[in-house]
Amino acid sequence: MKLSVFGATGQTGQFLVQQALEKGHEVTALVRNVTKLTIQHQNLKVVEANIFSADQLSQHFLGQDAIISCLGFPYRVFGTVSGYTDSMKAITAGARQSKVKRIIVMTSWYTAPESGQNASALVRFLLLPLIRSVLTNMHEMENYLKEECSDLSWTVVRPPGLQNAPATDKEFLTHEGYFVPQQSVPDTKSVARGDVACFMLSLIDKDEWLQRGVAMCTV
Ligand SMILES: NC(=O)c1ccc[n+]([C@@H]2O[C@H](COP(=O)([O-])OP(=O)(O)OC[C@H]3O[C@@H](n4cnc5c(N)ncnc54)[C@H](OP(=O)(O)O)[C@@H]3O)[C@@H](O)[C@H]2O)c1
Repeated sequence: MKLSVFGATGQTGQFLVQQALEKGHEVTALVRNVTKLTIQHQNLKVVEANIFSADQLSQHFLGQDAIISCLGFPYRVFGTVSGYTDSMKAITAGARQSKVKRIIVMTSWYTAPESGQNASALVRFLLLPLIRSVLTNMHEMENYLKEECSDLSWTVVRPPGLQNAPATDKEFLTHEGYFVPQQSVPDTKSVARGDVACFMLSLIDKDEWLQRGVAMCTV
């Protein structure tokens, strides 16, 4: 398939690009700095693009089968984050212009307010407040997709904490919601970025999680 990938220079994005190429897909990486992506492959095209410009993006989306976003924006302690919604509005507008329907985007566990109430004290009282600006904007993006993109085949993938490690052969556990309940599985608090990439790629031709958010982890 022909895949447009955002965040391809990032930690998860690089695993995703590598895996997609190994699976035989043709990848267009839309990046802000082309020198940053060191992967080289005959089926990889790296283009510089403004992620906030629908017109620019739509040119690159022509003929593509799916768009995958591993974009990330830094949290702000005293301020708001808008990169997730701003980029997704441009991506969806560009997708419509180019008639691409499938969009897979990663956010995180606990994007909804109050959804972290059963998390460990460390996560609940330290981590979540620290990264709240990011989670809030991720949640705004999720709501934007839900409320304004019923014409597109989007899926939101929500992983827990990320480890910078390649894919494992562990089993995926999924849950429609903002985290995977942990009663029966004690160790689900983090996941290898390679596994997240693998899970996202597994969705490109599946209808299973269309227009839904899926929390995932590995066991
Ligand atoms: N850290 C965790 O434990 C955790 C847990 C769950 C979910 N997440 C979320 O998962 C996502 C991926 O995480 P990650 O650690 O793999 O991300 P990352 O390494 O920080 O990569 C972020 C990517 O977004 C790109 N980007 C940011 N602003 C951009 C802009 N204006 N134009 C073009 N590209 C831009 C970066 O490009 P450059 O390389 O040019 O900077 C990079 O490729 C993030 O949204 C993160 O918040 C993280």
